[in-house]
Amino acid sequence: QFAQKDGFRFFMEKEIYEQSTVVSDCMLGRIADKSISFDEIDSSIIEGINEIKICACGTSYHAGLTASYLFERLSKVKCNVEIASEFRYKEPLLTTDTLFVVISQSGETADTLEALKMAKDAGLKTLVVCNVDNSSMTRTADATILTRAGIEKGVASTKAFSTQTVVLWMLALYFAKAKNVISSEKMQEELHALREVPKSLVVNDKIHEKTRRLSKRYLHGHGFFFIGRDVFFPLALEGALKLKEISYLHAEGYPAGEMKHGPIALADPELFTIALMPQNLLYDKIKSNVEELSARDSTICAISPLDFELADDFIKTAKTDHYMLEFFEMLVALQLLSMEISIRLGNDVDMPRNLAKSVTVE
Ligand code: G6P
Repeated sequence: QFAQKDGFRFFMEKEIYEQSTVVSDCMLGRIADKSISFDEIDSSIIEGINEIKICACGTSYHAGLTASYLFERLSKVKCNVEIASEFRYKEPLLTTDTLFVVISQSGETADTLEALKMAKDAGLKTLVVCNVDNSSMTRTADATILTRAGIEKGVASTKAFSTQTVVLWMLALYFAKAKNVISSEKMQEELHALREVPKSLVVNDKIHEKTRRLSKRYLHGHGFFFIGRDVFFPLALEGALKLKEISYLHAEGYPAGEMKHGPIALADPELFTIALMPQNLLYDKIKSNVEELSARDSTICAISPLDFELADDFIKTAKTDHYMLEFFEMLVALQLLSMEISIRLGNDVDMPRNLAKSVTVE
């Protein structure tokens, strides 16, 4: 409750700049030479588990969607993700070979807490990835992994998301090792990449300056599509949510390959497409999706380490050798872009209209 802005204009800005440090804290003592360890859990948590179900709301839901790709790819466990408010009333089928994971910054979101209680009552093993110790969710779940992001004041979540994503990536590797489904070479590659995350989250002055310049024109947009594939799809959803939350501009996140099934009908020069184009994952696929949009005169802002000649605007991220590092590089760019647009519009970045930091009522 004593958080200060420390010279930053808004808490959100401070929290974006803090991400590199808090993510280091989040990894401290959890990355060993050849494996991941969590003091809070032991490997029995994954024993007898055939499926992981994730439940969350808002930005935490986006971390969950990102994790679903990592759990299937790395841990070889079936994983699905649900929005907590939907899950509660759909009469879900729950089986005890499912590990139920909830993700929450506050640990108090009513819908997520209720979903957790339902899973517990049905006899499932439950785990919460949470930023607040001794919150309702950490008191309810069988096990807790804390994200150690520190107090987050900005209503638009930033460092909570990056730490959640890192915890979930580490958890995917932890499960992979416990189930013996990852080679030691692959594990080394992943651990190496994880150690580089704090570097990828350092705010690059040039990128910040670029988002400041782009914000001048982009505040006039009347529609934004954020597009990506694989984990860059949840990242696109998160980019769009940030813009909506604090700029009140209409934005949608979409899986890039799905644009041709409807949304591309909206393409025109007033439609801004923010395209997440990582070098290390499905580059050719996203490139051809973006080419289609460009051919229909959509204004393209590419975020990529690779030059892309059809881009009207370009945010150049650092070259790395792992797609998750690109994910964090792009995350910072998206956060800065929405913040700069919001500032230029004169909005209250930290306390956007109609929103609350923690939604404890249904
Ligand atoms: C609110 C906040 C969002 C947050 C969501 C879930 O809507 O404004 O930023 O992502 O709740 O909160 P939680 O604390 O459960 O992560």
